[in-house]
Amino acid sequence: MALVCCAGMTQAKEKQTSPDGKVAVEFDVVNGIPYYSVSYKGKDVINPSRLGIELINDYSLIDNFKIKDVNKSKFDETWEPVWGESKTIRNNYKEMEVQLVQQQPGKKKKESLRYLTIRFRVYDDGVGFRYEFPEQDNLTYFTIKEEFTEFAMTGDHTAYWIPGDYDTQEYDYVISRLSQIDELFDSAYTGNSSQTAFSKTGVQTSLQLKTDEGLYINIHEAALIDYSCMHLNLDEANLTFRSWLTPDARGHKGYLQAPCTSPWRTVMVSDDACDILASNLILNLNEPCKITDTSWIKPVKYVGVWWEMITGKSSWAYTDLPSVQIDKIDYTKSKPNNRHGANNKNVMRYIDFAAEHGFDQVLVEGWNIGWEDWAGKTKDYVFDFVTPYPDFDIEMLNNYAHSKGVRLMMHHETSGSTRNYERHMDAAFELMEKYGYNSIKSGYVGDMLPRGEYHYGQWCNNHYLYAITEAAKHKVMVNAHEAVRPTGLCRTYPNLIGNESARGTEYQAFGGSHPHHVTILPFTRLQGGPMDYTPGIFVMDITKINPENKSYCNSTICNQLALYVTMYSPLQMAADLPEHYEKYMDAFQFIKDVAVDWDESHYLAAEPGEYIVVARKEKGEDNWFVGGVTNEEERDMEVSFDFLDKNDKYVATLYADGKNADYAKKPDSYKITTGIVTNKSEVKIKMARGGGFAISIRPATEADKKLKKLK
Ligand code: NOJ
Ligand code: CA
Repeated sequence: MALVCCAGMTQAKEKQTSPDGKVAVEFDVVNGIPYYSVSYKGKDVINPSRLGIELINDYSLIDNFKIKDVNKSKFDETWEPVWGESKTIRNNYKEMEVQLVQQQPGKKKKESLRYLTIRFRVYDDGVGFRYEFPEQDNLTYFTIKEEFTEFAMTGDHTAYWIPGDYDTQEYDYVISRLSQIDELFDSAYTGNSSQTAFSKTGVQTSLQLKTDEGLYINIHEAALIDYSCMHLNLDEANLTFRSWLTPDARGHKGYLQAPCTSPWRTVMVSDDACDILASNLILNLNEPCKITDTSWIKPVKYVGVWWEMITGKSSWAYTDLPSVQIDKIDYTKSKPNNRHGANNKNVMRYIDFAAEHGFDQVLVEGWNIGWEDWAGKTKDYVFDFVTPYPDFDIEMLNNYAHSKGVRLMMHHETSGSTRNYERHMDAAFELMEKYGYNSIKSGYVGDMLPRGEYHYGQWCNNHYLYAITEAAKHKVMVNAHEAVRPTGLCRTYPNLIGNESARGTEYQAFGGSHPHHVTILPFTRLQGGPMDYTPGIFVMDITKINPENKSYCNSTICNQLALYVTMYSPLQMAADLPEHYEKYMDAFQFIKDVAVDWDESHYLAAEPGEYIVVARKEKGEDNWFVGGVTNEEERDMEVSFDFLDKNDKYVATLYADGKNADYAKKPDSYKITTGIVTNKSEVKIKMARGGGFAISIRPATEADKKLKKLK
């Protein structure tokens, strides 16, 4: 495509294509302004769009540019992630490095020349590009007012979006045309963030789009380091998104010092939705692993003293004292409230359950003093992360867990007080080492401290990475909730084994989420890295746990089982209460069996907002697991087992929605069938409304001779 939009230009000067030639990027400078565009199989994906950076108190990097030099190269390597959806990942792209020179008007040449590089990497499934600021005389320290990266759409596409917000992604998705974002914004913005939305046409990334011609386009970013998180603000008249960075307390959007780079801006594209889910573009654009010894980083399947707090049955706090600073409470003299979840007896019950059913870890929240004030009236002193409540015997419980081959998982709720957390971090990690913890679930609920900083700003992003690198020094894996949404940093720091940063299962206990939510998350939130979604709810009616909580989990049991496969994560929780699993032991068997690390993944069918089916092969084993989820509509899915090895026979156990299954009326209706499958098998499976299916597959043995074919 030629960059015809721009006055004086009909032919793009510079072009690079993907290794297979299907994706192309074009670049030119028109009247001093840099533009790029993207196409796929000859069809326009991103119309000519501006590039540049606006600065504060300095001449902006947006115009008066000329092309100084262009270098093209190729790259093809295969690397092994420490954990992942596949054993190896191919990083194969063609690169175009565009060196620009800017002459600031009204200045002498020597004082005015500035250099900016825009680096494009073109993959078979999309494009990544970033700004690079080389070391130079006339640009050293600079402050960003706004990034000027545009993504001009080619039509009024369907968008799967959540509203722009500097603090949270914990929203339900809206499916609408781009032109409807403005009108639907207020209803989408449920205001569960502490900060107000910045614009009525702002959306968050990763943003999934679909064109009327059936192209799937995804816009996100990769390697968000020392920079603010990017939102996208839509200019509705021109159907053009422009980047909108998260500001700091002063309204500034980034402090940089050359030499440095921006994160990568990414555009994935395919005419098959499965390709978007299978893409490794975001991981590939991140730096290789920086941790030399990764032997201590292991996928984790866990249970936790958690759902009972989230549903309101038990409490994090030990007392019902009003909100007071922790150093003002003498816990040894305070009356317990008798609802404290993290008590010795209850924690031992979860340890026993974990040991009996083969789970690696038990998360315990509310173990440490300070929860009386966790909402943060006196946030600068909210938690010390080392002092247990009187009824949580940290030594005894860790010994008990270890004696049964289980570990406790540490919980660090920071209440958004990054300052308090950083002050206590060393002691907190030392305590963990002393008792043998190797993983943390951390959290950043509420307004950030320092006051005025946002969860997604440069300052906080630097804090999250600091917490990850400090944890690595102590061989600790991190799963941060409410932190910025991931951008593939888990490649570089694989001890980042999970994040929340989206609306997780907890919202099923806060009023519910739409069934279609789980058919969108893998297209959006999961593009940047795994989510601690915490599936596995078997009892959907939350009043059964807490009569005062009228919430309902909008899902069938089989849909919950499928999530262990469809929502890729090396960290998987079985979130429901032990007594609920005991009621449905046959279905629970799937959660016990399912792997958390994979050699291969094959996306078999997908449509955002409607359904996802994926098959994965367990790391180092010949076992396979298949998961399928649907939205509010029931549907039949024809599953072909052609991903299996030819000539081998396998035994498959299918967990399917029962005849009358329905997420609203009969969520616990399911049918378990076992039979033989080969790579020629094709099986039609019915998914109920809000339902799904899960299949576990293992090689057949002599003992399975009498089994019939799976139907
Ligand atoms: C919000 C987290 O998402 C949730 O999992 C946690 O239990 C609470 N914060 C308390 O830390
Ligand atoms: Ca949360």
